[in-house]
Amino acid sequence: MKILVTGGGGREHAIIKTLSKTGAHELICAPGNGGIAANAKCFSDIKATDIDGQVRLAKDLGVDLVVIGPDDALALGLADRLREVGIKAFGPSQSAARLESSKAFSKDLMKKYHIPTAEYEVFDDAEKAKTYIETLEKFPTVIKADGLALGKGVIIAENKGEALEAIHEIMEDKKFGKSGSKVVIEEFLTGPEISVFVVTDGVKTVELSSAMDHKRAGDGDTGLNTGGMGTIAPNPFYTEKIKQEVNKTIIIPTVKAMAAEGCPFSGVIFFGLMATESGVKVIEYNSRFGDPEAQVILPLFGGDFTDLLTDMTETVKPVEGFASCVVVASGGYPEKYETGKVISGLDEKGQIPGMPDITVFHAGTKLVDGKYYTAGGRVLGITAKGKTLQTAIDRAYEAVSKISFDGMYYRKDIGRKALS
Ligand code: AMP
Ligand code: GLY
Repeated sequence: MKILVTGGGGREHAIIKTLSKTGAHELICAPGNGGIAANAKCFSDIKATDIDGQVRLAKDLGVDLVVIGPDDALALGLADRLREVGIKAFGPSQSAARLESSKAFSKDLMKKYHIPTAEYEVFDDAEKAKTYIETLEKFPTVIKADGLALGKGVIIAENKGEALEAIHEIMEDKKFGKSGSKVVIEEFLTGPEISVFVVTDGVKTVELSSAMDHKRAGDGDTGLNTGGMGTIAPNPFYTEKIKQEVNKTIIIPTVKAMAAEGCPFSGVIFFGLMATESGVKVIEYNSRFGDPEAQVILPLFGGDFTDLLTDMTETVKPVEGFASCVVVASGGYPEKYETGKVISGLDEKGQIPGMPDITVFHAGTKLVDGKYYTAGGRVLGITAKGKTLQTAIDRAYEAVSKISFDGMYYRKDIGRKALS
């Protein structure tokens, strides 16, 4: 098959590497990045959000399948546009992608179909939101911009002042643009977080591995929220008992609810869950693979990935072993950072010489005259597998120690919470 992957980060590199395993497919990526170019022909001028460009490329090249990586391309309706011209797409329609692109939509869906989630209110008026906050007695409280906000639209307000400030920033200052024309204000939940990935065609479901993300920039979950600084899989908090509960109360009801609403979800649903004392609740849905969750769940996937993405004929074999991914980032990320630093420790294929068991997923790199340079905030995701979680973590850090570039930083505690 000829397969186009839309996107250009670590997640898309993981998708491409998994598709390339059989050697049977011709792989294309737009825009791709320096490291992806070792596995796929890249069209670096065509951004993921350039919907016309992506459709034109798919048509011109006569691709059989487009796998859509990022949320914004899905929210802009790329899957619908491809299907309209008869090209198979892996990813939900624009209407189904609202599961992620509108938090008000997803919260109302959960309420209507009794899917456990935090108590909440939705506001489209800043004054009303502020009046509501004045009545709140319990803090922290959680304030979320309705739309997509690069993972930064969630504010945990410790007191009334912070909550009012959050409303001001989101709704009046429009920090996240149109994404902040509505807000969700919800109950603060506590408990271990678990990410679960389910591929569905709108009816059938195939569950992949669970994972644990590390969203804060600093060790011990300190510092700013990022896109994700590292992951491990499977998540040890996702016990067999919790898995059964989640299937019954969350996964199946969500897939059925989407179909009942007239927008069946076809693609992968990323369930962001929290195991609270009163049961597992949905923190959020995403309508795509996670980044850097894909960098650990896909290396643990044993079956034929193309079959799974096209017809869901693949039954997933039980996960054996563990995977750990450490993200190395540019100094300053998630705020201002510099790019164009030469990366040392990689061979011409963008991998670490002498460590064939390690996979380096490129997130923000550029290849110039055979040398890799940094080109983004998150630069590489370095993944190791192991029979135990401890060996996967140790091996990933051993690999990280071979890499260096000016200003490089990474978290030193990926997976620690999962070991205790
Ligand atoms: P998101 O950007 O939606 O992934 O949210 C970022 C993070 O905010 C989540 O991973 C949680 O750690 C936290 N969060 C979101 N909603 C809640 C909630 N209702 N209670 C506690 N923490 C939350
Ligand atoms: N790592 C979290 C996300 O992909 O949204």
